[in-house]
Amino acid sequence: MVDNLSISNAMKIKLSDELPEYPVLKENVRRAPKREVTLNEREIKLALKNALRYVPESLHEKLAPEFLDELMTRGRIYGYRFIPKEKIYGRPIDEYKGKCIEGKAFQVMIDNNLAHEVALYPYELVTYGETGQVCQNWMQYQLIKKYLEELTDEQTLAVMSGHPLGLFKSHKSSPRVIISNGLMIGMFDNPHDWSKATAMGCSSYGQMTAGGWMYIGPQGIVHGTFNTLINAGRKELGIPGDKDLAGHLFITSGLGGMSGAQPKAVEIANGVGIIAEVDYSRIETRLAQGWVSTATDLVEEAFEIAREYLYKKQTISIAYHGNIVELLEYAVDNNIHVDLLSDQTSCHVPYDGGYCPKGLTFEERTELLNSDREKFAQMVDKSLADHFKAIKALVDRGSYFFDYGNAFMKAVFDSGVKEIAKNGEDTSEGFIFPSYVEDIMGPMLFDYGYGPFRWVCLSGKPEDLHKTDQAAMSVIDPNRRGQDRDNYIWIRDAEKNKLVVGTQARILYQDALGRRDIALKFNDMVRNGEIGPVMLGRDHHDTGGTDSPFRETSNIYDGSNVTADMAVHCFAGNAARGMSLVALHNGGGVGISKAINGGFGLVLDGSKRVDKIINASIPWDTMVGVSRRSWARNEHSIETTIEYNNKFEGQDHITIPFVAKDELIEETLKNFKNNGEQNG
Ligand SMILES: NC(=O)c1ccc[n+]([C@@H]2O[C@H](COP(=O)([O-])OP(=O)(O)OC[C@H]3O[C@@H](n4cnc5c(N)ncnc54)[C@H](O)[C@@H]3O)[C@@H](O)[C@H]2O)c1
Repeated sequence: MVDNLSISNAMKIKLSDELPEYPVLKENVRRAPKREVTLNEREIKLALKNALRYVPESLHEKLAPEFLDELMTRGRIYGYRFIPKEKIYGRPIDEYKGKCIEGKAFQVMIDNNLAHEVALYPYELVTYGETGQVCQNWMQYQLIKKYLEELTDEQTLAVMSGHPLGLFKSHKSSPRVIISNGLMIGMFDNPHDWSKATAMGCSSYGQMTAGGWMYIGPQGIVHGTFNTLINAGRKELGIPGDKDLAGHLFITSGLGGMSGAQPKAVEIANGVGIIAEVDYSRIETRLAQGWVSTATDLVEEAFEIAREYLYKKQTISIAYHGNIVELLEYAVDNNIHVDLLSDQTSCHVPYDGGYCPKGLTFEERTELLNSDREKFAQMVDKSLADHFKAIKALVDRGSYFFDYGNAFMKAVFDSGVKEIAKNGEDTSEGFIFPSYVEDIMGPMLFDYGYGPFRWVCLSGKPEDLHKTDQAAMSVIDPNRRGQDRDNYIWIRDAEKNKLVVGTQARILYQDALGRRDIALKFNDMVRNGEIGPVMLGRDHHDTGGTDSPFRETSNIYDGSNVTADMAVHCFAGNAARGMSLVALHNGGGVGISKAINGGFGLVLDGSKRVDKIINASIPWDTMVGVSRRSWARNEHSIETTIEYNNKFEGQDHITIPFVAKDELIEETLKNFKNNGEQNG
């Protein structure tokens, strides 16, 4: 076996052999609950050896017991000792070291994902969604930063589930970073095997923008939530296209990483919202950020405030400190009418702490998770059944419930409530309640290509964000479609709505050409010195980025929504066209093996080179999704691809489906059966 000295000598980029002082972990920082460990002794040994791979041998004796203790008490080896001493937050790009702009820009993004005001469990490197990590441990974080400092504009950094494999020669027009997270071989692509691999330090849950380094705080979802709420109101409550949710009540749960966008969205839509949240620290955070207006521990009071504002037709968001099931049961028992109903607990991991069962406080939930997972799981199942019962009662009285992409209906089904499945047996025909993608976001947004485009002003200057808001607004024609009008109003009011948490970032739903035009405009502004460099990106939760029958592709009905070709093509096509970062993940918002999703980052440095990348990659990134949706015969996508083919004749060309008439299919089948009967 090669000795460790030769190994150390062969590496210029590595962790120091000086033992870092153990950091002081602050008491008031939210901590991840213990993750499940199902490793046998051989695998525990492997986990230890795997974590020690990052540190020089001289530190092994000291670190081995420390890492083992972390594994046994926390379920993962996080390497807390390697947490940096200085405060982590997305600093202005000029404060980072690096040999190319992208190397510095991605350090801004990573640090923003881990800032205490942004991240869910910053010490465990979890950005949002209960389990979505930037990387697995702090040794990886330190090493990634070192690599990004060394990265040149002719190299690519490969990151596999948080592990920086190394720097490799590429081209100026190649991605500077390629990331994958949680990808598993088919027969092992299930939560159990993945969790084992992760406990051994071989895999990581990147969710979407956590492991793809593109998270921008709850703002990242607020525009989508606003779009969903306002369109749900138009579709289900008969609200006219130019009106808002004034006088209408929305009840939901969760004030976490993503769910924290709900109160802001309902206020922007001018409705009244009550949001249940069991963790008081989340409520405090959202109150301090101005993302929720008021809070109460009392159900009666929550409804009293709501009643007053509904009557005045004024907006307010109310945090109810308690369990969503209790809140809904109160509404049922007291015959309170609720217009719109949803849920955003972390139901993609209900048994890992994502869903707090009725009857337990948040603190008791954490304790029970640590002491008796089986009892915890039983309580989750019972609570989900009660939760379903309350929703069903409200829906029967006229509420509109939609699943908001947190795998809630799947969790209810898995808890034993077969009634939630359309066929009462399995999930093959879907559920009795709609998912927001099937009903709203798919047909009204994704099918046209409208999706969660975003940018970060890397200078960290609010004035840069202001200028980009103005520039983006000037690109939108509010008279083209209703969606454009909504987007125009959104960006016009974005600054007033104080959406920034963390870096100076903005979300703006746009279609393929809207995104391209805004990108070109921004790059031109960087070129002219009007603003500093900009990072462009998007949520993976988009038209083309994600294959997930439980969410993003749930409104694809040609049978192809069990495939993941689109997300992979989107990723590969973005890499081929020179995006600065490309990422491909397993799981996303719905859990391991239920989605493949990808995203990108593109650093606008003002160069002509980047103009070329924008022109080739930005339309592709969206149109791959519209084309696939069109091929699945989604009407708005067919319209969009026809328009696109006409516009880009000689440059791009999309295959569009001929649509067979239903009557013909019925007739053909009938004739076939009849012939069969006649023949024998
Ligand atoms: N629709 C989308 O576009 C979208 C996007 C991202 C994430 N998601 C999904 O939404 C879910 C939430 O994401 P997040 O980032 O906010 O997660 P999170 O874990 O940060 O927040 C969920 C919150 O729900 C609270 N909670 C749990 N059980 C509760 C209960 N019974 N009653 C009241 N509060 C309860 C938790 O305390 C937590 O604060 C995840 O499943 C995620 O995958 C959806």
